[in-house]
Amino acid sequence: MEDIKSLGLGEYAEELDEKGYTVLPPDIACPDGLKDRLLDACLAVAENRNGKRPDLNADQAYSPRHADQFEGALGAASGDSPIGDMMQSLVIEGEVFEEALMNPVLLALSTYLTGYSSVLLTMACFIKGPNKTELPLHCDAMGPSPLSSISTECNLTYALTDYTREKGCLAVVPGSHKLCRQPRGEERLVAKNPSAIAVECPAGSLICWHGNTWHGAYNRRSGGLRVSLVIDFVRKHIRTAEHLTEYVPEDVLLRNSARFAVITHQAMAPTVPDQRKSEQNMARAKRVLSAYNQELGVDLQKFEWSPYA
Ligand SMILES: [Fe+2]
Repeated sequence: MEDIKSLGLGEYAEELDEKGYTVLPPDIACPDGLKDRLLDACLAVAENRNGKRPDLNADQAYSPRHADQFEGALGAASGDSPIGDMMQSLVIEGEVFEEALMNPVLLALSTYLTGYSSVLLTMACFIKGPNKTELPLHCDAMGPSPLSSISTECNLTYALTDYTREKGCLAVVPGSHKLCRQPRGEERLVAKNPSAIAVECPAGSLICWHGNTWHGAYNRRSGGLRVSLVIDFVRKHIRTAEHLTEYVPEDVLLRNSARFAVITHQAMAPTVPDQRKSEQNMARAKRVLSAYNQELGVDLQKFEWSPYA
């Protein structure tokens, strides 16, 4: 709450409590031209991975070769995709992604929802062109109903191009996080759920939502591309979509805080069949946690269990 107050985010935290989502405007979310630098970096990664830089003004579906997996998914007609393309593991693709992850306002909101011990589920760029199929409503929190009312996962999405209904923006059902369950039947359909609304906001906004909040996306009626950078945090007992423990380069860790190391799985020590590697992972986890405790000023002697919840 100290961070929330000192960063002037009180009204946004209240909105998260009440509606299950909030939107930080570009001047708060993306200082120092962060939006333009992130957009450029995402397009560069796409060029590197797909061999061709995406054309933001293209007037056709965006479907680089490896995006085939999403065609026909989630009720889409053959040849259509509700997603476009998804590029993951971006945290090791350059300093601007580290900056996006460690953005103080982003961390304040993620900590508000999933605590100081939460880790990165994924950092992914979604690029979507004109399409016919909406992304059905769902919540990201997994498990049987009722879901925990305490957020076990949270999503922070940088809109790197303008979000409007025509441009295929996010859809949410305000207040749905309080239902603690997945939507069922026609509740899942954006077009048929009368409580679903379009989250319209300018490029550079940061949209944040609770793991239980029902969300999906409208299809993109207009030309051009929608580009977004999605950062998902989960509580540390949940299996992540990316495995980073042994994959973050040492120079990246050295130039960042202990919290960055915790978020990127360096304090996790999943046991592996290779005993030597297990010992290395355990030693690394102890070292990173110790540095994190110091960074936070936490005296572990005062706690019977995790101080970070
Ligand atoms: Fe989702």
